[in-house]
Amino acid sequence: MSIFVLTQNAVNRYQAKRLVKIVRACYSNMESAKSETLCIPMQSAKAFVKNCITAAGASNNHANDMAELLVTADYRGHFSHGLNRLEMYVNDLKTQITSTEGDPKVEKETAATAMVDGRNLLGPAVGTFCMDLAIKKAKEAGVGWVAARQSNHYGIAGYYALMASNQGLIGMSMTNTSPFVVPTRAKTATLGTNPVAFAAPAKSGKSFVLDMATSTVAVGKIELQQRKNEAIPTGWGADPNGVETNDPSKVLQGGGLLPLGGSEQSGGYKGYGLAMMVEVMCGILAGAGFGPNIRKWGTTERIADLGQCFIAVDPNAFCPGFENRMQDLMDLQRDLNPSDPKKPVLVAGDPERSHMTKCDSLGGIPYPQNIVKHMNEMGEKLGVESMKAI
Ligand SMILES: NC(=O)c1ccc[n+]([C@@H]2O[C@H](COP(=O)([O-])OP(=O)(O)OC[C@H]3O[C@@H](n4cnc5c(N)ncnc54)[C@H](O)[C@@H]3O)[C@@H](O)[C@H]2O)c1
Repeated sequence: MSIFVLTQNAVNRYQAKRLVKIVRACYSNMESAKSETLCIPMQSAKAFVKNCITAAGASNNHANDMAELLVTADYRGHFSHGLNRLEMYVNDLKTQITSTEGDPKVEKETAATAMVDGRNLLGPAVGTFCMDLAIKKAKEAGVGWVAARQSNHYGIAGYYALMASNQGLIGMSMTNTSPFVVPTRAKTATLGTNPVAFAAPAKSGKSFVLDMATSTVAVGKIELQQRKNEAIPTGWGADPNGVETNDPSKVLQGGGLLPLGGSEQSGGYKGYGLAMMVEVMCGILAGAGFGPNIRKWGTTERIADLGQCFIAVDPNAFCPGFENRMQDLMDLQRDLNPSDPKKPVLVAGDPERSHMTKCDSLGGIPYPQNIVKHMNEMGEKLGVESMKAI
């Protein structure tokens, strides 16, 4: 028993150190966003990702899926889930903890549902396969619902929901993730930041795209406050006793993130409930790993076995005029008088669209100079041609 405890403590210390390293690298990159940026054309960024992923051993198709996903995340302004994560996927392939070849396999299906074995392939390869299947079923049966097991980190959940809304369908996607969130009234982190995405098409082509983690913030934001020696806002994290804290080091040393909403008093049990819902739709429904059984973030001692969920619904199976009503609903909110005249009322998807417009006007994605440098150095080791700025 005591040997087990000692070993476990050593493993925890190792994992904590690794996590801090990963988060630091991530935030030193993000902090430098304030410094000079380099504009990389999207095609160049995609070619770079594709070449790195194939050089690490994956097939062309899977590399294409990865390139589309990561560059879309950056284009939409979610830099934490774009090129910033490329190295993690490359390492997963190089160490072969993620499978490099093969195709996801449909294990069971009905007219509207399918259960897929992701065969431990890259998350975007599994996700793209599953959402394509859900879309096909929705076009035939009105609804397509696909659950996947044996998957890996699949990036921004919104990417898959958008695949459906780009074809006039309502799209939803969710994934479970490594445990980092402390349930309401608990002391231990047993749930991931389990994101959920929902996209619905509107007349103007500007879909409603809600794409969010079910925790208040990502762990990296806590680490950043710690590095700045600043308190964290109320509602972000808990100490090792499960008590809400403003001290970032208590969150990082044995505590955890609070679910969306924060403490019980401010409604955090709703975020907790949403994270559980994601687990039901993913880990539980698909028979994948779930909750604290999922490997710790940043570790690769065993496969991830994530569960994921992909849903497409054809609005034409319901009342005609869906896209018009969607447009009205969104415009009603956008046209409201803002409480701060400098900040117009938005709907989900608008902030990302502003970022995309900015990229379009620049002719590419503005990356901090040191991210591009870091990426190109990694590419060089893989024998991949560097990205070139405009
Ligand atoms: N794969 C994983 O393990 C994983 C885990 C967690 C998060 N993620 C991804 O990380 C990304 C970021 O997640 P997040 O929770 O930090 O997102 P966020 O807080 O930046 O945005 C959440 C949602 O709120 C909307 N929004 C933002 N400001 C708004 C405003 N003023 N009015 C109306 N709507 C507004 C956005 O359009 C978005 O849909 C997402 O793409 C998510 O899928 C992935």
